[in-house]
Amino acid sequence: MIRVENVSKSFTSPRGVTPVIAGVSFDLETGKSLALMGRSGSGKTTLLYLVGGLERPDTGSIICLDRPVHTLTGRALSRFLRAHVGFLFQFGNLLSCLTVAENVAFPLRLNNVGPAECARRVGELLERIGLAGAAKALPRELSGGETQRVAFARSIAHRPQILLADEPTASLDSATARNLMDLMFRVGREEGRTTLTATHDPEVTALADRALRLEDGRIVD
Ligand SMILES: Nc1ncnc2c1ncn2[C@@H]1O[C@H](COP(=O)(O)OP(=O)(O)O)[C@@H](O)[C@H]1O
Ligand SMILES: [Mg+2]
Repeated sequence: MIRVENVSKSFTSPRGVTPVIAGVSFDLETGKSLALMGRSGSGKTTLLYLVGGLERPDTGSIICLDRPVHTLTGRALSRFLRAHVGFLFQFGNLLSCLTVAENVAFPLRLNNVGPAECARRVGELLERIGLAGAAKALPRELSGGETQRVAFARSIAHRPQILLADEPTASLDSATARNLMDLMFRVGREEGRTTLTATHDPEVTALADRALRLEDGRIVD
């Protein structure tokens, strides 16, 4: 369960204070998916970062898996994220000097998964995303869609209970985007993962259990 209650966030710059999230509340039940819609600048990324503890709210509370994420810092926060949260971004952000298999293994290594179990899980994941043959490839040898599939495999390798995805299909053509989102929602349902994805693609929204629209930092429907 993710519970966001009355969360506000402003950024202060030399030009003054910009309110970005203004009193947002919503619940997302365990195992469900939510699409966060809204035009560019509406606050989607900021809200995802707040839920993932990467930003701190000015007011309100964020409870994920019974933990008050808005109060976690330092080691407690990194321990929580490493164990329970996966992040997927618009551009895969794969580590360019590591192979596909090593990229997918990365969160497993962080969680001290041993080499044999690691290899087994990576093999399974690559199979799942249809890239079993690309284990030894480097990120620069992949297409955009393949890159995002690998980034997705990496984001769920440690079987996080929560996946936070920030416009993961924004750089893909629509068929490739659909393929990735089918995979993300299907695997998420199978594994009981709570998935929060920012998007402005109506096709992505249609695949999620629920959708919310942000406008100027507020939920409008
Ligand atoms: N670290 C920051 N410092 C100052 N302003 C920021 C920062 N992050 C985001 N903003 C501002 O917050 C607004 C919402 O941004 P963002 O959450 O990235 O929206 P979206 O993801 O919907 O495009 C934008 O106007 C952006 O310029
Ligand atoms: Mg954004």
